[in-house]
Amino acid sequence: MTGRAGTRHAYRAGLLHMLADPCQAPAEQAFAYHQDGLLVVEDGHVAAFGAYTDIFPTLTSETPVTTFPGKLITPGFVDAHIHYPQVDVVAAWGSQLLDWLHTHTFPAEQAFADRAHADEAAAFFLNQLLRNGTTSALVFGTVHKTSVDALFDAALARNMRLIAGKVLMDRNAPAGLTDTVETGRADTEALIRAWRGRGRLGYAVTPRFAVTSSGAQLAMAGAVAAAHPDVLIHTHMSENLEEISRVGELFPDARDYLDVYARYGLVTPRSVFAHCVHASDDALRRMAAAGASVAFCPSSNLLLGSGLFSLKQACGCGVTVGLGTDIGAGASFSLPHMMGEAYKVGQLGGETLDPMHAFYLATLSGAKALRIDDKVGNLAPGKEADFLVLDFAATPLLARRAASAATVAEKIFILSILGDDRAISRTYLAGALAHSRDGA
Ligand code: GUN
Ligand code: ZN
Repeated sequence: MTGRAGTRHAYRAGLLHMLADPCQAPAEQAFAYHQDGLLVVEDGHVAAFGAYTDIFPTLTSETPVTTFPGKLITPGFVDAHIHYPQVDVVAAWGSQLLDWLHTHTFPAEQAFADRAHADEAAAFFLNQLLRNGTTSALVFGTVHKTSVDALFDAALARNMRLIAGKVLMDRNAPAGLTDTVETGRADTEALIRAWRGRGRLGYAVTPRFAVTSSGAQLAMAGAVAAAHPDVLIHTHMSENLEEISRVGELFPDARDYLDVYARYGLVTPRSVFAHCVHASDDALRRMAAAGASVAFCPSSNLLLGSGLFSLKQACGCGVTVGLGTDIGAGASFSLPHMMGEAYKVGQLGGETLDPMHAFYLATLSGAKALRIDDKVGNLAPGKEADFLVLDFAATPLLARRAASAATVAEKIFILSILGDDRAISRTYLAGALAHSRDGA
């Protein structure tokens, strides 16, 4: 790596990151772990990752070394599906998807017509991501263009690698929350123009789902995405049985839910479909063939009673899977907690999720789904230095249990069941400290 020596900094701790999909690679080749490791960061990028004994002798004497005894450095987590305007509906009691949307979510989203409200919520939201160790996310705004301006302004100020979009929704929603084909197109195009190339931000064309967009609006979304090869497509699919039958009524000619999106050019290598709990093998294989990805949101699926996603089925069909919190249907910002929830969903479905596979979903696979794995997702030299310092002694129970872990995989599993934001000691964005649990 080239760069000014003054910006070089080394961090000594355990080091762990993923290199390959544990579904496909032998476990020992899927990750790299150094019990005593050294991460070298230069100009916001990873310059070296390896064993302390190998890397330290290559450093000049001026390179500062910060040591985190007993801690583990990992890449930042990637949240593959989350709604920033839903922070105020987390933990809403008593309903399933369609009722939950109308009773809790749509009223909360109406408040985002007000820029001051959006600014306050965006700041709270991003700070929650950082304190939970999430350094990248794919985020729903609301139908209001200004909701995305507020989020991007706040993410730019924090230098986060974040992808977001304005919701497209021209039917089956309250009047204050709908756009039209033309205003949806104009606002989406304006946001792409305004934010392209700024900081580490990206845009996602964001039709909410097939229930709330007309065919004409989905066609517009597909056309806008085709005209801008750098943007993602982000929507929901096959989450809830009532939703699926509603889509069948609205689009009677479509072969299945995926086909609705495919007809309008929305199934592409840049597409991320949240949930897919009830997707058939055939649909998952078509998604895989198109290079599209799934965001698995176990906390949301459990709380809304949507169903049990089968990771084994998705892997078998060859589709890329990221992990999403789906705040506010999901009830935690923590990707380690989602890893634990994914494990529990697997247990209920007779599938035992390997801890390193769960860690892969929360890091490198999420980055692949969001098409940012050339920049983040692990700590390979040259990537952006978005990393975490994890504290396995954050609570008495975690400390006691982690002390008896025989392997790093076992430690990661214990973290996924017992950990929360207290286990995130520090969060770094492009080599700069962005959150410290102790305020230091
Ligand atoms: N489907 C359409 N909109 C939403 C939403 O806001 N949350 C979830 N979980 N599913 C959806
Ligand atoms: Zn969602």
